[in-house]
Amino acid sequence: MKNDKIISMPCIDEARKKSSENKIVYSNIKISEETRSLNAGKKYLIKTFGCQANVRDSETLSGLLESANFSAASSEKDADVIIINTCAVRENAEDKVFGEIGNLKILSDKTKKKVFAICGCMVEEPDVVERIKKIFPHINLIMGTHEVPYLLDYVEELMTKDVSRIISVKSQSGDIVENLPSRRDENYKAFVNIMYGCNKFCTYCIVPYTRGRERSRLLKDILIECQELVDKGYQEITLLGQNVNAYGKDLKDGSTFANLLEEVAKLGIPRLRFTTSHPWDFSSSVIDVIAKYPNIMKAIHLPVQSGNDEILKKMGRRYTAENYKRLVDEMKSKIKDLTISTDIIVGFPAETYEQFLDTLKMVDYVKYDYAFTFIYSPRPGTPASKMEDNVSKEEKHRRFNELVERCEIYVNQSSDKMIGGIYSVLVDGRSKTNPEMLSGYTESNKMVHFKSKEDLTGKIVKVKIKESHVYFLSGDLVNG
Ligand code: 5AD
Ligand code: SF4
Repeated sequence: MKNDKIISMPCIDEARKKSSENKIVYSNIKISEETRSLNAGKKYLIKTFGCQANVRDSETLSGLLESANFSAASSEKDADVIIINTCAVRENAEDKVFGEIGNLKILSDKTKKKVFAICGCMVEEPDVVERIKKIFPHINLIMGTHEVPYLLDYVEELMTKDVSRIISVKSQSGDIVENLPSRRDENYKAFVNIMYGCNKFCTYCIVPYTRGRERSRLLKDILIECQELVDKGYQEITLLGQNVNAYGKDLKDGSTFANLLEEVAKLGIPRLRFTTSHPWDFSSSVIDVIAKYPNIMKAIHLPVQSGNDEILKKMGRRYTAENYKRLVDEMKSKIKDLTISTDIIVGFPAETYEQFLDTLKMVDYVKYDYAFTFIYSPRPGTPASKMEDNVSKEEKHRRFNELVERCEIYVNQSSDKMIGGIYSVLVDGRSKTNPEMLSGYTESNKMVHFKSKEDLTGKIVKVKIKESHVYFLSGDLVNG
């Protein structure tokens, strides 16, 4: 388009490079009265795909827009700014997003200056940006994961100047920007970023290219944010990072994840969680801290990906099945009533059936309380996408079903054990399928439905478990 403004385009080779020192910047956004009156009455809508990092980014995008006087729209057609925050981790997630982008076209209105923005991990892929540029002219803002802090500059430019489209996708890791406004989705549970990016470069994974290298926030900044949440009466904090156990390694001030976890636990938040962990740098001191503090939930997400050593090596996971089992043994021996969940990929390039059977053996060994299972999806620019693969799609689906069936045995066992017991549940609100019921999560992260006339959203209540279904439990509220 003729008035395109290209600030930067994504480049996988740049993303692969170690970036120069990242800075921590303390922002002090001031919105002029002129801008606020320009935006008065204008509305925004954000659709979020993917992981908690995206959810948290969307909260910041909302906060920025609200600080500039936009308010939340109840439908797409009322919105002056529509943002789709995308996920690139598997191809099917991307397909959904392309569907959404196409649907926005009917909302474009030549008489009104609207912003249709695509951000998040997908736009860090050069091919995706080219495709959006060519096929979807109604998309007038393409901004990468490192550009979140600059949203308002782009929106203002598109709304007030003769610019038809802005593309800003810096592939090297961005600075950490503190003090950005944010509008949290919930007022009783919160995500708190402790670090950004990932250095692991597992061979199948696009995240290190889309989110950059590991950058940790300072301990003091994280503690200030958590203290504010405690003061506001929040019931649960989840500390977020692609690999929280690597927290502090880049800071060189002695901060470690064990130390951070302990400091946050001491603030007295009723429930403290963290996600996600790489088994490689899960230290014994972290396990000890989890065991020591009752308010750290005894539910650990520990992605295994495969139970076979050759596949783990080809994945670049840096541990063997044996290392992983010993870590699980240590966790189970030190932490009472521990539940473990995991991520597993089937159908990695050229995975044999025997290698897949080792993954089933791992499932039998750990008896995961919950497992997120995925069929391998080649991601452009990653080393695994260039590996030869002789396993058919049908065979991958067959193995996937076999894996799901095996995992369900243990998910059921862990839920069945809870029948008759009384558990604390943090209530999320009315069940989507039955408005008479409330639903929430136990400390061990099991979803529970129970009947209640009173809306107990945001409260921690006791529920006696009556029935277990594969992926949820039902029970009765225990009064008093
Ligand atoms: N294909 C399939 N699953 C993937 N994951 C990451 N990359 C891929 C891929 N290319 C899964 C991993 C990871 C989870 C978030 O997504 O299991 O832990
Ligand atoms: Fe991806 Fe591996 Fe980093 Fe997880 S640890 S985000 S799977 S590269």
